[in-house]
Amino acid sequence: PASDPDLVARARAAKEALGAKVFILGHHYQRDEVIQFADVSGDSFKLARDAAARPEAEFIVFCGVHFMAESADILTSPSQKVILPDLAAGCSMADMARLAQVEDAWAGLEDAGVADSVVPVTYMNSSADIKAFTGLHGGAVCTSSNAEVALEWAFSQKPDAKILFLPDEHLGRNTAVLKMGFTLDDCIVWNPRLPLGGNTIEAIQAARMILWKGHCSVHGRFSPDVIDELRSKHADLQVIVHPECQHEVVLKADLVGSTEFIIQTIEAAPPGSTWAIGTELNLVKRLATNHPDKNIVFLDRNVCYCSTMNRIDLPHLVWALESLAAGNVVNVIEVDPDTEHWAKIALDRMLALPG
Ligand code: 13P
Ligand code: SF4
Repeated sequence: PASDPDLVARARAAKEALGAKVFILGHHYQRDEVIQFADVSGDSFKLARDAAARPEAEFIVFCGVHFMAESADILTSPSQKVILPDLAAGCSMADMARLAQVEDAWAGLEDAGVADSVVPVTYMNSSADIKAFTGLHGGAVCTSSNAEVALEWAFSQKPDAKILFLPDEHLGRNTAVLKMGFTLDDCIVWNPRLPLGGNTIEAIQAARMILWKGHCSVHGRFSPDVIDELRSKHADLQVIVHPECQHEVVLKADLVGSTEFIIQTIEAAPPGSTWAIGTELNLVKRLATNHPDKNIVFLDRNVCYCSTMNRIDLPHLVWALESLAAGNVVNVIEVDPDTEHWAKIALDRMLALPG
């Protein structure tokens, strides 16, 4: 549905009143009604890189989810305040790795006698304390657009390195197996609810990739059957998916990449081409609207929004902007200094990677 014109006018007026004091960042999964107000829209990597682009802005309003706002707070100056318009905009994947669980897993790796050769790599989609744990243990953050180069970096840090990949098992497996030549046998899954993650000591010692048992509830829905079904209906269908999808889905797709990669691919595609896209629905709908000359279908039989991304709606954005304009600083995301120190080390290692 079209945005409420009254709320659009209020958001515009509040943004104008704040002027250079406010910088609005928006992830590609945000609603149309929200993304229209973003000064910069992007994938997780671009938003992390651009968070510090306006040092003069007093307020960074982050239209995305909690872990992204935390990263923006870590990467900007202490005088800048990061605002998340709805504090309930979390991420179910990030919630699947808690610090105490990861510390227990590390103790398990010590018991198995391998901790000295383990380098942690955490996906951006994790809480700041998991990023800090990663920084403290010599590892780096990665996003879906640089997972391969981050893993190459991590493997080069120690002889016979093993990677503890947090918290998305699918991104870890898809990158290691489909981009780096590892086999499925090189990967084990670490289930934090089981002793030694559900593995034998021998399996841990033999593994190269230790994949945390976490996943995205949105991307986990896409299934290989639907790809078969759509291919039987549409001649010359090309399938493009996000690497948070299950391995079986990515295996059947033609292309895999971050949200930014998906957008660039569709923009460059010839008119008349047919695409099935396996990522969040706000983005797929926007691509279909912006490219009426291409045939774009959604890779799921049912609706598939990210419910937490969707919590940032126009009423919340208006409320946050009007509060700031009235001098009332609401919903500040602030990472504590010790966590920030180590998490920044892990984020800076990612930002220093080539490419
Ligand atoms: P990217 O925008 O980095 O591809 O990430 C997707 C995602 O799930 C963010 O939550
Ligand atoms: Fe988290 Fe998945 Fe939503 Fe991204 S799409 S914020 S990974 S639940």
